[in-house]
Amino acid sequence: LHIVSIIGARPQFIKAAPICRALRETGHQEYLVHTGQHYDPEMSEVFFEELQLPTPDINLEVGSGSHGWQTGQMLMRIEEVLVAQKPNWVLIYGDTNSTIAGALAAVKLHIPVAHVEAGLRSFNRKMPEEHNRVVSDHLADLLLCPTQTAVNNLTREGIAQGVHLVGDVMYDSLRYNLRLAEQRSIILDTLRLQPKEYVLATVHRAENTDDPERLHAIFEAFIQITHDGLPVVIPLHPRTRKRLEELNLSFNKLQVLAPVSYLDMLMLAQNARMILTDSGGLQKEAYWLKVPCLTLREETEWVETVESGWNMLVGAQTETIIQSVHTFTSPETHLPFYGDGETAFRCVRLLEIQQ
Ligand code: UD1
Repeated sequence: LHIVSIIGARPQFIKAAPICRALRETGHQEYLVHTGQHYDPEMSEVFFEELQLPTPDINLEVGSGSHGWQTGQMLMRIEEVLVAQKPNWVLIYGDTNSTIAGALAAVKLHIPVAHVEAGLRSFNRKMPEEHNRVVSDHLADLLLCPTQTAVNNLTREGIAQGVHLVGDVMYDSLRYNLRLAEQRSIILDTLRLQPKEYVLATVHRAENTDDPERLHAIFEAFIQITHDGLPVVIPLHPRTRKRLEELNLSFNKLQVLAPVSYLDMLMLAQNARMILTDSGGLQKEAYWLKVPCLTLREETEWVETVESGWNMLVGAQTETIIQSVHTFTSPETHLPFYGDGETAFRCVRLLEIQQ
């Protein structure tokens, strides 16, 4: 098979790594397109090195901009690549602007689309990710779902053909890299952190960063938690740093870091007492690493983590966040909701069969 894969944002590098490996091992030909949505070395290059991703065959260097501009630029540039490559499949990942641009460019040229991480829904139509998911799923020919919940969401929207429950590729990545992280990462020593004596936090979602009240309330909680004696460690996404600086919000009492690599993040997550996040990926990583998680949102796509008692939706209220950090405990049971870590090979097999 000749496959064009479209990636561009940090979580997509982590999702693509196991599939790239599986494609290579099964002798298929992959042309890797980096849209350039994420371009800071610490948001992009570092991940290619650590995850042993092949160097992209092309970087479209789209960079940052408004949603329409960014998606439009990607659409035009991906179309050119697809016209030249004429692949059997276009492979898209997750829910970013790179995902929807890849899907649209492909269907207009009558090239079949496979969507890895199909069927996820927050049912919050204010999120850019939700628009990207809904449209991409309705355009895709092969819908590779991580959970039964995702399959059910698609059924409800009338999508039945080409839907497969395959598990979560992020679990493949975690399983493959956890031992490497334990061997190679020195981040705990560097930051002088003791296992289970700190909280790990990340904030980057537009609903939190672009709403000064929510952003303020969240960071107020972090400062209070640190003040109460539990250090809060925050690898900061560039957009969040920008917003905090614009709002003159002081974060010098917190352990704020530049974005960290995947292996360092796995170590920080595994050893945290608790994880506070608005990221989708980190909610699942917390679950797999058996670390209790508080989600700084009103809803989640990963409902299994909440229903099982490992994750709690706390929103963006200072008091609720602080209270929950001190009271939330995880349950005894832990079920394998997200597959067996062999999802990538299952995806490749389906690409072969459906062709
Ligand atoms: C994107 C995804 C989001 C995903 C996240 C992972 C969309 C709509 N959102 O959000 O679903 O969870 O990636 O990180 O696609 N910036 C830099 N350097 C970079 C990249 C971004 O400084 O390398 C800054 C720029 O100011 C930019 C802002 O971050 O405007 C937002 O970047 P963008 O790629 O548009 O969205 P993310 O917030 O990263």
